[in-house]
Amino acid sequence: MTNQMHPPFSNRTSVVRLPIPHGLRMALPASDKAELALAQVLAGDAVPRLNVDQLAEQLTSTQGHAVLGAPASWTDTQLRWAYAVLLRQLGSLNGRYGKLFDVVDQGLDHTTTNAPVSKTKAATGMHTDSSDARYNPDLVGLLCLHPGSRGGESLLASAIEMLERLKQRHPELESVARTPWPRDVVTPGLAQDLAAIEANAIPVFAQDEHGPVFRYMRYWTERAMAKLGQPIPVQLTRLFDFIDADMADNALNFRLKRGDILLVNNRLVVHGRGAFEDAPGAARRCLVRAWVDGFVDSHGERLPLRA
Ligand SMILES: [Fe+2]
Repeated sequence: MTNQMHPPFSNRTSVVRLPIPHGLRMALPASDKAELALAQVLAGDAVPRLNVDQLAEQLTSTQGHAVLGAPASWTDTQLRWAYAVLLRQLGSLNGRYGKLFDVVDQGLDHTTTNAPVSKTKAATGMHTDSSDARYNPDLVGLLCLHPGSRGGESLLASAIEMLERLKQRHPELESVARTPWPRDVVTPGLAQDLAAIEANAIPVFAQDEHGPVFRYMRYWTERAMAKLGQPIPVQLTRLFDFIDADMADNALNFRLKRGDILLVNNRLVVHGRGAFEDAPGAARRCLVRAWVDGFVDSHGERLPLRA
């Protein structure tokens, strides 16, 4: 029975963890063979078939995320191989930033340049990946090679649950959330003039043939409107304030450890990370990001059709 005092969702205090598929352990290449095996996986060669039914089900649930812990004793290359093989079960790897993109502090500043926050050590704020209106990855993966010395915690929040609370408390803002708003263009290779920014308009909440789609990047939206000379409507600021406060109250906050593979449904779940610092002489924080297409979208074959 649903308790009317609370939303119809389970209370969660921790991230959902699943075991890595047994087949991944069985097929692991020896450390001296891992480099070649990884290159073959990234080139599109055949990969071992794994049972990912439970994982796929978890990723399409309201919770929309899972963490799988691969052994920390595996080498970096073995971990990358395992990660890529796992992701290939779920769709195709997108190559916009490289199929495996190392998220490390490159000493850049996203507030003074068009650098993505993923190349800085700053807190990201809660967001979904991709600022491009025409491209939205279905899944975001993050493999932890080195968690770093200080900070850098991971944050996750369910957009579906947040939308329910918005409807209950501020129903007048739902139409604002479903209106396309311009977002700054930062994708390398795309035109970044004002016309391109104006055309790069995305609603926070949308619905397509596969279900709800949540796309949230407050920073890039406000920066786009500043560049366009458009005042930010009061109702839009109220919406953003509600979303940020709701996520601050409800987000899961946890630390990844070496070998952890975090998979996030980028249509349903918002993620973020805290600011971090690398200590001199210690391993630098390094998470390997990947974007997967075709999980529930039309960029690739649908999940049941892939073998
Ligand atoms: Fe991200």
